[in-house]
Amino acid sequence: MRFDAVWVSVLVMGVFLPVLSAQTAPHSVLTTRDGVYTAEQAQQGKAIYQSQCGMCHGDALEGQGENSPLAGSEFLNRWTDQTVADLFMKTIVMMPAMDPGTVPPKEVAQVLAYILSASKFPTGSKELPSDPQSLEAIHIVKP
Ligand code: HEC
Repeated sequence: MRFDAVWVSVLVMGVFLPVLSAQTAPHSVLTTRDGVYTAEQAQQGKAIYQSQCGMCHGDALEGQGENSPLAGSEFLNRWTDQTVADLFMKTIVMMPAMDPGTVPPKEVAQVLAYILSASKFPTGSKELPSDPQSLEAIHIVKP
């Protein structure tokens, strides 16, 4: 009996605690609820959105016809559990649909900040990065 108890605590200390602390370490997983873009960045993104995206995706990001909505439950359901890197890559490779690949990464990050703001995710003090490696750490969840 005693031996079992010792074994259990060795297991807990040796196996489970390191796993737990790895999950709560800084730079581990972030979500879109953690203030991952700035208000200013979203404002800059709004201007780009209005000139290059709004004619297809709608002034309120509501989508129209085959042009997907970029806010609201249909959009969030589709992207929940993917990362912002997935959203970034799809946008940079496919958008704007008539002229794909013409929006520089920094501006794509600004537009994504605007898209996050439209879904009421909170702002923070750090800008949304514009490289897929960093964006891979930010998971999309519901606001
Ligand atoms: C000419 C019309 C048009 C323009 C302009 C346009 N899009 Fe799109 N967009 C589409 C269409 C059509 C789709 C659906 C394509 C698909 O998913 O196969 C789409 C899909 C998307 C998606 C994926 C949505 C999802 O839930 O899968 C994102 C993100 C997106 N667009 C962002 C943008 C951004 C940002 C801009 C401006 C830089 C932009 N689009 C400009 C037509 C357009």
